[in-house]
Amino acid sequence: MFLFIVFVSVGFGQTVAVADSSYIAAVYEHKVILNPEPHVSLSRRDALQHMQRNLDVYEEQAARAAQQGAQILVFPEDGIHGFNYTRSSISGYLETVPDPQKEDWNPCTQPGRYSNTEVLQRLSCMARRYNLYLVANMADLQPCPLNTDPSSSCPSDGRWQFNTNVVFSSDGLLVSRYHKHNLYFEEAFNTPPQAEIITFDTPFAGRFGLIICFDILFREPTVVLVERGVRQLIYPTAWMNQLPLLDSIQFQRAFSLGANITLLAANIRNDRLIMTGSGIYTPLSATYHHALKGDPEEGQLVVARVPVLDPLWVGQSAATKEGSSSMLTDSGFCHRQNCADPSLSAPFYPIFTSSMMYDPFIFVLLNRTEGEVSVCDGTFCCHLQYKRVASGNRTEIYALGAFAGTHTVNGNYTLQVCAVVRCAELEVSSCGQEVEEAESKMDFLLEGVFETRYVYPVVLASHLVLEQPEKLEKTADGRVSMKHSNINGGLVTACLYGRMYHLDNE
Ligand SMILES: *[C@@H]1O[C@H](CO)[C@@H](O)[C@H](O)[C@H]1NC(C)=O
Ligand SMILES: *[C@@H]1O[C@H](CO)[C@@H](O)[C@H](O)[C@H]1NC(C)=O
Ligand SMILES: *[C@@H]1O[C@H](CO)[C@@H](O)[C@H](O)[C@H]1NC(C)=O
Ligand SMILES: *[C@@H]1O[C@H](CO)[C@@H](O)[C@H](O)[C@H]1NC(C)=O
Ligand SMILES: *[C@@H]1O[C@H](CO)[C@@H](O)[C@H](O)[C@H]1NC(C)=O
Repeated sequence: MFLFIVFVSVGFGQTVAVADSSYIAAVYEHKVILNPEPHVSLSRRDALQHMQRNLDVYEEQAARAAQQGAQILVFPEDGIHGFNYTRSSISGYLETVPDPQKEDWNPCTQPGRYSNTEVLQRLSCMARRYNLYLVANMADLQPCPLNTDPSSSCPSDGRWQFNTNVVFSSDGLLVSRYHKHNLYFEEAFNTPPQAEIITFDTPFAGRFGLIICFDILFREPTVVLVERGVRQLIYPTAWMNQLPLLDSIQFQRAFSLGANITLLAANIRNDRLIMTGSGIYTPLSATYHHALKGDPEEGQLVVARVPVLDPLWVGQSAATKEGSSSMLTDSGFCHRQNCADPSLSAPFYPIFTSSMMYDPFIFVLLNRTEGEVSVCDGTFCCHLQYKRVASGNRTEIYALGAFAGTHTVNGNYTLQVCAVVRCAELEVSSCGQEVEEAESKMDFLLEGVFETRYVYPVVLASHLVLEQPEKLEKTADGRVSMKHSNINGGLVTACLYGRMYHLDNE
């Protein structure tokens, strides 16, 4: 294990040495081999034959990851079985995953304990053979008692079907199981009756928490994990990209920065479904892969050495642990009466409304070489200082947008967002549409006063390149600012994505 010593100052001016350390993580973006007819039920034998083809690829990648020293390897959501099953057509793919909190089971060394567990056995043997922690996503069937308790939410066919992460230790023990809480049009699966807050501990990096895909946008379980001090999240996903604000890597980066955590994100690769974008993110680094148009459609292994963030593992005190998540460092919300600020003045230039991500953003154009603009949606205001430092050969227009409200398309969630975007064309109505490329470079300071402390910042440059914001600041009154200069590529989006979890479901 790679160890280095850092000196940290503690109270009373003492300096003590603590062992800080790092580990090697790997995520695999998998070009899933799909069942071409997911609505047709298959026999167990045929379903297994299909899944073994995906598992053959997992096996090769586990070997490659191990060669590069990986201690943990993450595979994407739906990577073994695929998508678009119905509740009945998925039946051949289901296995019953025992609860690792209730029993110790090593499917590789004890294959006889449960029948119908070929996928669990193969994953367990893979973890064991390559001596790494392995996280995969599969379909779990849990029988539940019918009619015993009328308030029980057991489905009428007496079984739960869950979209499930399973984790194996490096000797093949099943150490963790997590059932996805925030489903996204998944007819085959149930939402568990309560959100599961699931973590597991490793000998090389301490504690990790588990989430899946759409979960990342919601309080349960994601933010609950972070608020309990879990600072390393594992994130299998099958994410359909949507610029300008929710491309896979863009939100992965934003969440890791905003929550001050490590995120190990593995996405599916499927061009028709616009799925790509996986990476290993820490508050200080991002190692990622995002395919561009025209790239061959293939899998991609991403490996990186990253620091351990688990405060208990690195031997910090419990008090430090409390403060180590940026979500906790500032206190309270900014209530409306406190949010008014003279520097966030009303817009000077005419504003216009344009739809971005199906939400009506209020925009103002950035039509000078440099300047300062504000724009408000109701009482929520965004402010920008900018200076264009280089333009390419083509004319490009940019706008600053503000949105405060509930997003209601393909999921309901309440937002406050400040975003600088490159407009797709030269008409203002194109501001907010998808753009992937830009030539204009600008220095900027973007800020807003948010009524939530959950604000996720990100800078996206041309051709899906992430940049580390030069400076992020957050004050107790809810003001968040992001400053960036010397951008390397043309600016596509700079965004402060605020989530008003407390207003969801209202
Ligand atoms: C799944 O269904 C959706 C909507 O019905 C469709 O757009 C998508 O292409 C389907 N995906 C697969 C893998 O068949
Ligand atoms: C992020 O966590 C580190 C400890 O890993 C801490 O030193 C730092 O202050 C935190 N950053 C913020 C913005 O809270
Ligand atoms: C920018 O837009 C404003 C409002 O539309 C207009 O008054 C101003 O002349 C424009 N400036 C430039 C440099 O085009
Ligand atoms: C701009 O045009 C010049 C000459 O036409 C070309 O050499 C240069 O590569 C172009 N720059 C960009 C960013 O496209
Ligand atoms: C969003 O909320 C509306 C009611 O406000 C409800 O009808 C709809 O089903 C919800 N959509 C989702 C995806 O939860």
